[in-house]
Amino acid sequence: MSEKWAIEEIHLNATMEATFWSNPVEESGFRYRATHLDGKRAPKVILCDDERIRPGIPCLVRIKQIKKHKNPNHGTIEVEFVRLLSFKLEGVYLDPVISTKLQILLESGLNILLDGPQGSGKTSVARAIAKALGMRFVFFNCSAVIEATDFLATIQVRATEQGQPVTDFLKTDFLRALEEAHEQPQQRFLIFLDEFNRCQESARNALMPALDTTRRIYHPINNAFLSIPDNVQFIAAVNRGNEFSGTFGIDAAQLDRFAPLQMDYMPAQEEEKLLFERHPEVESEVVRQIVEIANRVRRSAELSMNLSVRATEEACIYLKHPLFQDRQSRVLAEVLKSSFCGRFSGRWDDVHSDAGAVWATIQDVLRIERKKNP
Ligand SMILES: Nc1ncnc2c1ncn2[C@@H]1O[C@H](COP(=O)(O)OP(=O)(O)OP(=O)(O)O)[C@@H](O)[C@H]1O
Ligand SMILES: [Mg+2]
Repeated sequence: MSEKWAIEEIHLNATMEATFWSNPVEESGFRYRATHLDGKRAPKVILCDDERIRPGIPCLVRIKQIKKHKNPNHGTIEVEFVRLLSFKLEGVYLDPVISTKLQILLESGLNILLDGPQGSGKTSVARAIAKALGMRFVFFNCSAVIEATDFLATIQVRATEQGQPVTDFLKTDFLRALEEAHEQPQQRFLIFLDEFNRCQESARNALMPALDTTRRIYHPINNAFLSIPDNVQFIAAVNRGNEFSGTFGIDAAQLDRFAPLQMDYMPAQEEEKLLFERHPEVESEVVRQIVEIANRVRRSAELSMNLSVRATEEACIYLKHPLFQDRQSRVLAEVLKSSFCGRFSGRWDDVHSDAGAVWATIQDVLRIERKKNP
């Protein structure tokens, strides 16, 4: 099968799949352009001006007009929008139902709150969304925010040439993104507010008008309110862990300004797949055991912390190293002693501590495995 459609193969009124991006040729009158139809390169550029199109999200289109040109590489294919298809996030696993909900929320521009345990992929998913939708990703960690103005500016003290102390306002990435969003209305921005529950309550309250229909925020450098343009989308992340049962510092009014989405660790099969892909040097049986132990630990109600996917990755990084690679099964328990037990309070050899409980789980699973495969 050829990699490229011949022009005779494209029929008027046929429905095909295409993924659009902003059209850099503004004077063409079409806001969006695509290069492929049903996954194969099209003989001419595909144009559409329908506002329901979302850059990066595949959609179904109907062929409306084929404009030929003397030069066979020129000309255009004009299409009409039929409907959006589900979007695909590269390199991350996302539960299909959450993925559909996310797509709907992103299309409607609502603020989104990702609520999930430590290392369950919140930041990775937000980055993947920005990439898939051609949005500029702006990472902002809220845990350092004490005063409301810290969201937009920090104060830096420096010495003048004469040695006098002066203070400067430094713009944060958050503020720079808002200003750029005003200057570049074609570019969409995704501002990711990480650890949203960790900043001071009063500071979070000051952000509220930015998150509701008021859509404005106090600009401490200009001493004026700055409006938040429509090309800015907020996604916040919170991590309740095991230790928080329901209350996580965000009050009802704040929470109400977000559409909350609960994330969890990916299913065992998906985690194994991810680890195989990233660390093919680790034996598949060993990867399976790592994930099995991790999930036993995650399910354990008594532990005050959770076990992130970073921990299972770290174990693979140890095991694939030439110093361990030829004896992966034998050193697995030793590796998990630090990569898993080390993330919990207490010591692995103290049975009354969390780390000791994790060590008992590791030994339990490995004992069962040894019985299965003596
Ligand atoms: N669903 C997932 N898909 C792909 N990778 C994942 C997923 N969950 C976790 N990971 C991997 O685990 C690591 C941690 O993920 P990430 O930083 O996105 O988690 P997080 O939920 O933001 O964590 P934290 O609560 O600590 O901020 C990354 O290396 C990431 O690749
Ligand atoms: Mg994160």
